Amino acid sequence: MQKKILDLIKKKNKSKIVCLTAYSKNVASIIDKYCDIVLVGDSLGSVLYNFSSTKKVTLDMMIEHSKSVRMGIEKSLMVVDMPYGTYKNPNEALKNAKKIISKTMCDAIKLEGGKKVVQIIKTLIKNKIPVMGHLGVLPQSATSFRFKGKEKTERKIILRDSKLLEEAGVFSIVLECVESSLAKEITKTIKIPTIGIGASVHCDGQVLVTDDLIGLNKIKARFVKRYSNIEKQINDAVLKFKKDVVTNKFPTKKHSY
Ligand code: KIV
Repeated sequence: MQKKILDLIKKKNKSKIVCLTAYSKNVASIIDKYCDIVLVGDSLGSVLYNFSSTKKVTLDMMIEHSKSVRMGIEKSLMVVDMPYGTYKNPNEALKNAKKIISKTMCDAIKLEGGKKVVQIIKTLIKNKIPVMGHLGVLPQSATSFRFKGKEKTERKIILRDSKLLEEAGVFSIVLECVESSLAKEITKTIKIPTIGIGASVHCDGQVLVTDDLIGLNKIKARFVKRYSNIEKQINDAVLKFKKDVVTNKFPTKKHSY
């Protein structure tokens, strides 16, 4: 296993894991300093392309954004989401994961699901492709975005799936919108780190979509905390630029040849 991944697993029960999304070099190079994991999430479909679902995100889109992100990362573990429809069976998954890794030089891939994807995960890992799991709300197949783990049977399935994914060899699992006490139980039960999004403080780490955190994306979800209003800063800067242009204050001699 890669050293970066071993170091990440060692963080469990010692220090919290910080994970954020990036879709471009410029954002990746800022967040890299603070993150353990930079995720090129297929959330880029809704955040950047206004898609109603991540189902429309293609392999090529993920690869092109990931190539940009790669240029901005020096230290974090870079994980790329396998988009919908690219891991229907072990052979296709292997072909597409190899393509993602060879074109983007990412460290690992992430895919969604429990029992259904165990064979796929085992095939990838047998072929030395590090895999991150994703349980709870699964945006690629979700029909509802209601949190998971309210009912007993649902709780049992998610807990069982977390153990199956661990046995299959994933190095970490994202828990999306999983009820707090269930997220706590999973985190205590498995030996690999859980990374929560809307899954309580009990997870070993947290992930957010960077555009949500900085106020560039207008999503209203309980799990989002807005730490900055970058939209206001862009507005202020652009307004100043506009004023300077219309009053001939820009460009001055300093900015001219
Ligand atoms: O696509 C994504 O950005 C994700 C995170 C929200 C976990 O999967």
